[in-house]
Amino acid sequence: MCGIVGYIGHREAYPIIIKGLQRLEYRGYDSAGIALYDGESIKLSKTKGKVADLKEKLENEISTTGTLGIGHTRWATHGVPNDVNSHPHYSNSGDLVIIHNGIIENYDSLKKELINRGYTFKSDTDTEVLINLIEDVKKNENIKLGKAVQIALNQVVGAYAIAVFDKNKPNEIVVAKLGSPLAIGIGDDEYFIASDASPFIEYTKNAIYLEDEEMAILRRGKDIKIRKIKNDALVDPYVQELQLNLEQIEKGGYDHFMLKEIYEQPSAILDTFRGRLLSNEAIIKMAGIEDNMKRFLAADRIIIVACGTSWHAGLVAEYIFEDLARIPVEVEYASEFRYRNPVITEKDIVIAISQSGETADTLAAIKLAKSKGAFVFGVCNVVGSSIARESNAGAYTHAGPEIGVASTKAFTTQITVLTLMALRLARAKGTMSSSEFRHHLIELETIPGKVEEALQSDAYVKTVADIYKDATNFLYLGRGFNFPVALEGALKLKEISYIHAEGYPAAEMKHGPIALIDEQMPIVVIATKKGHYEKVVSNIQEIKSRKGKIIGIVTKGDVSVKELADHVIEVPETLESLTPLLTTIPLQLLSYHIAVMLDKNVDQPRNLAKSVTVE
Ligand code: F6R
Repeated sequence: MCGIVGYIGHREAYPIIIKGLQRLEYRGYDSAGIALYDGESIKLSKTKGKVADLKEKLENEISTTGTLGIGHTRWATHGVPNDVNSHPHYSNSGDLVIIHNGIIENYDSLKKELINRGYTFKSDTDTEVLINLIEDVKKNENIKLGKAVQIALNQVVGAYAIAVFDKNKPNEIVVAKLGSPLAIGIGDDEYFIASDASPFIEYTKNAIYLEDEEMAILRRGKDIKIRKIKNDALVDPYVQELQLNLEQIEKGGYDHFMLKEIYEQPSAILDTFRGRLLSNEAIIKMAGIEDNMKRFLAADRIIIVACGTSWHAGLVAEYIFEDLARIPVEVEYASEFRYRNPVITEKDIVIAISQSGETADTLAAIKLAKSKGAFVFGVCNVVGSSIARESNAGAYTHAGPEIGVASTKAFTTQITVLTLMALRLARAKGTMSSSEFRHHLIELETIPGKVEEALQSDAYVKTVADIYKDATNFLYLGRGFNFPVALEGALKLKEISYIHAEGYPAAEMKHGPIALIDEQMPIVVIATKKGHYEKVVSNIQEIKSRKGKIIGIVTKGDVSVKELADHVIEVPETLESLTPLLTTIPLQLLSYHIAVMLDKNVDQPRNLAKSVTVE
């Protein structure tokens, strides 16, 4: 993970870098640092803690002038978060300085070789090994920085997005990428570097996303030069126009990004089906499916690979695809799939789901699937991300930037895209009548309004949160389409409030978790009208007899659960397959309010990062 930012041009680099690091803090926030070149020497400051801590320390410590600089916000992999392990890192001579997002897997053997050649190391990081390897190559071969970076990177196994500069050549920054993202903003005689485009969006809309195994030399006032790291071939720069705007990446009056993103769901879902769901004409248009319809129709099965919340969206999709389109679906944790020698054939379709489009395990899983001839369809939010580029075809969720580390609108928009896909395929396969199909489209169109209505439970959810905020364990139960929502509700609670929570299929409760139930235990039960309602009501009765505290998520107007539960939170009625889009809303709000009441860092929970670009 980690976020990197850099600047070379005619402006003061410091304000651009510090603000950029704040925007990238979702990628890691255990330590941060900046190196600036002030016209004479490198000024470097770094610290354990957040970018705000760095800002406070640095402004007392070093001069912040200079038109060239690099900065880093870290999510520790090698070496604990402390001042010394923070980036940037110097080479032994003090001439070169580097920031790095990724992991150098063979750092240990490289380090031993460098120690044998007299190099010393201050930190425990793989990054300090890389900068000294670059220095060693540069000195031994008496070559320029760019060439030295290239030769060094050819000895490296692992993943990286790096930016390096040399204090003796303060007119250039060398950047390179493999596995971790790297965007270059192109201004007038100036370049911006960042893990995503958000740090430079107010300066330029023109960006180049480096591809894997590419490097670039950014010289003040000169055209960019991009080369292949392996064979030195020059690459034509592909400049994209960014669609992002500043408003999308700011909090807009909300206390936290998470809350803003929860409230954005009605419009995000609308954006997801805009132009795709045409209910008047009774059609769904998705280019990625239309162009590959033959493959979809010939597929023996669909394998979904994803991690975390995206994996939960995949589980919901399993129910939807099987129910509507009658296509067998397997849902896999990407991290397990890639290491268990899975049976994949050319007739398989692999759907990779990822908000960031950068999750290393998901990326590796799709590379494996492609190598076995499977067709890969990416469902990503971040446009131009690695998974989007690596997939054979795909559909963006169009949720807009999600900055809170806990996924909210990514989840509901992923389910929306997957529902559209299932409906389109159901129609093509003839597993749905035209009237059923039309009915689904009309109902899907009402979902943004119904999410809006579900959000009106916010104040009541807050009072429930207040009652249970000190509980140490929560159980979440759901059946059918809402079993994955129970998993997602439990994940949301644990990741931002650090309260232990487990999600279970409601009927599984009697095979184990029921032993946990006593009068202290809050149990969130999703009991909407159409989802095996009577069965879930029986499960609620079983909880009640053991004195568990019941928080029911029910359909508006419910009677039976109301009689049994301690609290009920209503959501509007909809088709069973669409209920996850509504039942998930109060669960997001519950975890949000509990975390705020416990004074936790909602947007940047401990040990987590938004984009998991390491295995
Ligand atoms: C949970 C969360 C993580 C991500 C997971 C996959 O709120 O944010 O579990 O869902 O790391 O990330 P993406 O979707 O970017 O592949």
